[in-house]
Amino acid sequence: MVYYKKDRLYLNRLQLEKLVKKYGSPVYVYDLDGILQRLEEFQVAFENNVHVHYALKANSNPVILKAFKKAGIGIDTVSWGEVLLALKAGFKPNEIIFSGVGKSTEEIKAAVKRGLYQINIESPQELERVGKTAKKYKKIARVAFRINPDVNPQTHPYITTGFRENKFGMDTSFLPELKNILKKYPRNLELQGLTLHIGSQLLEHKSICEAIEKTIHIYKNFLNEGYPMKTFDVGGGIGIPYDGGVATSLKEYGSAVMKLLKPLGCTILSEPGRILVGPFGVLLTEVEYIKRSPSQNFAIVNTGMHHLIRPALYGAQHRIWPLKRRHEAEKYSYDVVGPICESSDFLGKHIEVHGLAQGDLLAILDAGAYGYSMANFYNARKLPKEIVIANGKAAVSPVSSVFKYSLP
Ligand code: LLP
Repeated sequence: MVYYKKDRLYLNRLQLEKLVKKYGSPVYVYDLDGILQRLEEFQVAFENNVHVHYALKANSNPVILKAFKKAGIGIDTVSWGEVLLALKAGFKPNEIIFSGVGKSTEEIKAAVKRGLYQINIESPQELERVGKTAKKYKKIARVAFRINPDVNPQTHPYITTGFRENKFGMDTSFLPELKNILKKYPRNLELQGLTLHIGSQLLEHKSICEAIEKTIHIYKNFLNEGYPMKTFDVGGGIGIPYDGGVATSLKEYGSAVMKLLKPLGCTILSEPGRILVGPFGVLLTEVEYIKRSPSQNFAIVNTGMHHLIRPALYGAQHRIWPLKRRHEAEKYSYDVVGPICESSDFLGKHIEVHGLAQGDLLAILDAGAYGYSMANFYNARKLPKEIVIANGKAAVSPVSSVFKYSLP
């Protein structure tokens, strides 16, 4: 996490201003030591009774992925491209969960042939497609049904997923049809569990527990009917407060989930994304221009919605701090905006800081999750570099091959 020492901003013992001088900006900087420590806290919260499958979509930096592999966890993916990134980082097919609502025929063929650990099913037609493919290639596909428990967690409407109006998961009305399809492919489909993911950036865990409570009877019914159930996947979703406050206690979350699921004797799977990486990344940027209009001060910086889309898309309020802290009495309000030709291109509105000047350096905090992974080339602009600090040392990370993949 970031902190000031003698008015200079630091991340994991390194002065960020020095990193910008060496590597330029805009640049994402990640604190790998912090990330690995957070992973351990997460596992300890479940008394190590949880199989963590990191949701790679949050941040697919290859150095971070390799470190997670070394730490012995699995991966949760939502496209064949993500599966390829995981394989490239060293994960074995039987450590990979394949989630996602719209898997194509090609993606399912690849998943079935490679024998992924679990395919999370979102609709009867998808199950049929998996069954047909597994039969054709004489494989057994291990599947879990994603349940839509109809709970409405308090988060941005774009990132709720377990409410009845969302496209994700299936309620109990789907079960007869799903069972018929399982019967059609007895040698090729193995129902091994259920899965949930009710939304992201949840600042309390009660709604996740409510979802689990509403789903347990479905799991028990499958068990009683003789299905070889063994996994209960509670998804991800634990959020981080972007104001720097304290989120839901991981310890309380872990104990609450275990209390509910221990009696089932199942393997508890979890797919955390943001909570593991979000607070441990910053996006560093330089002020290109200061523009004072009669109604507002603008700090026009060299990054924008093409590098961090969260403020534009979800109204997310990331803190923006100067790399060099000033001490004048007066603070001013700035809209920190990027170079993209859209008024939605802002990183923060009404940011109160001491007077900014051309060339000043700023850090956008809590940008370790859904920052670089949602970045794009809009306006034909470049992606920023990524730097990873490990054991207190910084190094530029290789570029993720996410844009180079091909389907097998
Ligand atoms: N599992 C599944 C099936 C998911 O769809 C997601 C996230 C996760 C796990 C991980 O969720 P997390 O622990 O990171 O909340 N772009 C948005 C977040 C979208 C999340 C999509 N699914 C944002 O920037 O807030």
